[in-house]
Amino acid sequence: MWPYPKIIAHRGAGVLAPENTLAAMRHGLAYGFRAVEFDVMLSKDRVPILMHDDSFGRTIAGEGNVADFTAEQIFQMDAGCWFSSSYSGEPPPAFDSVTQFCRENDVWMNIEIKPVPGFEEITGRVVAEAVNRNFATELAFAATDSQLISKIPLLSSFSFIALQAAQIVAADVPRGLLAVRRPADWLRQCKAIGAVSVHLNQQYIRADEVAEIKLQGFGVMCYTVNDTERASQILNMGVDAFCTDRIDLISPDFAKKHSINNR
Ligand code: G3P
Ligand code: MG
Repeated sequence: MWPYPKIIAHRGAGVLAPENTLAAMRHGLAYGFRAVEFDVMLSKDRVPILMHDDSFGRTIAGEGNVADFTAEQIFQMDAGCWFSSSYSGEPPPAFDSVTQFCRENDVWMNIEIKPVPGFEEITGRVVAEAVNRNFATELAFAATDSQLISKIPLLSSFSFIALQAAQIVAADVPRGLLAVRRPADWLRQCKAIGAVSVHLNQQYIRADEVAEIKLQGFGVMCYTVNDTERASQILNMGVDAFCTDRIDLISPDFAKKHSINNR
């Protein structure tokens, strides 16, 4: 049901490095994480890049909307200095560069499609096409070699339209329905987009809904669990995986260390 790692570094390395950068991916890996979540958005010229906010001001200084700038312009920006001067000059990376890093280092990816409002369809399509290209070998042989299934990234999104678009161009790339709370019509939505998992905010998750979702054959992933007590509770509810910002507190082998076997 959930062939992927249980503990996932949120936005690369959580709060230990500037989110959604290659430096964060390297930092997460240095902490032993072989699974990462990050956010992907499109630039003006429709290049997928790692970015959480659709406007500048938080992780990138200045004003303006990401969708009004080309990838070349965005790659000149500084996504590291807000975090600390030691990361000064760290650029927002291309999705393809991060994919390459993850493939080379055997890091599994939960790719969150993060469309700017109005660009849901195109963002879902472009990101899924990029996964098709970058994982052509795994996708071609996964049917005959089941070990390859766990190498293929999982696409998730708060946008149903983005997931629908991804399904059309990349049916074999798995999809997860992402929501703050489980929607009333979650099962209909999951079936409509051929989802393999449901991704929910850990704050609101209940054991009975985890059981219901799993009974229907879907994996359950939670975001974002940042203390060890809650991590144990969440896993004991039967949640398959969660992402964390506190990669320093919650290690990749947290479940094993605490003898939690919730398969
Ligand atoms: O994919 C889980 C989580 O990252 C969703 O929320 O805002 O941190 O991207 P956000
Ligand atoms: Mg995210």
